Amino acid sequence: MSARLESPRLVLREPEEGDVPALLLYYQFNDERFARWEPFHEDDLSYHMRWVHWRRGESAIGRGWSFLALDRAEPDALIAIVNLYDIVASSAHSGMLGYSVDGAHEGKGYAREAVETVIAYAFGTLNLHRLTANYHPANERSGALLRRLGFVVEGYARDMLYLRGTWRDHILTSLTNPAWKPPEVTGPA
Ligand SMILES: CC(C)(COP(=O)(O)OP(=O)(O)OC[C@H]1O[C@@H](n2cnc3c(N)ncnc32)[C@H](O)[C@@H]1OP(=O)(O)O)[C@@H](O)C(=O)NCCC(=O)NCCS
Repeated sequence: MSARLESPRLVLREPEEGDVPALLLYYQFNDERFARWEPFHEDDLSYHMRWVHWRRGESAIGRGWSFLALDRAEPDALIAIVNLYDIVASSAHSGMLGYSVDGAHEGKGYAREAVETVIAYAFGTLNLHRLTANYHPANERSGALLRRLGFVVEGYARDMLYLRGTWRDHILTSLTNPAWKPPEVTGPA
């Protein structure tokens, strides 16, 4: 079943094919803001359709979840996107976190609310033990958001991500789950 989460101001749900026009508009509107920190997103409906299929395929096999954060009062308004990537079970029980917020909603606590809700899902329902999130040293808003959420800096990776034609350094951070429970079944699933 498709995951659906709620917070005081937002509904967070997995992307669907019908969201493709809104995704295209989101990345068109925010392209300049995202250019230094985010991978390139093609200005093309079929690209976003492929993204939706990829992310739904990942959640179907438990390797990642993407959430569109929509305004509870106006459910067509796409406010933020939060991605849980590269979930590993085995001995790690970990995942990676990525996020962005629409420019019209930046600086209003929406990103924090959306990311906090996905962390609660990752640590509660998915019972992950560790989330990592990495940001470019000049991305002060991203660093501030992670600090507010309790992420701790663990290191510095040179030339970590190839974004829009340039290798970019990143600061590595993580958050662990104090309420993690050892799984009842261990070994191969
Ligand atoms: C990184 C990013 C998601 C942070 O978003 P953000 O809106 O700054 O983060 P928050 O949701 O925590 O909002 C915090 C601000 O909202 C303010 N705020 C207003 N109302 C609030 C409320 N009800 N609750 C909480 N904070 C509120 C806070 O005071 C804070 O203000 P400040 O930035 O002036 O200190 C955003 O800058 C972004 O999308 N950047 C581009 C993409 C990107 O960099 N992605 C991450 C790659 S690593």
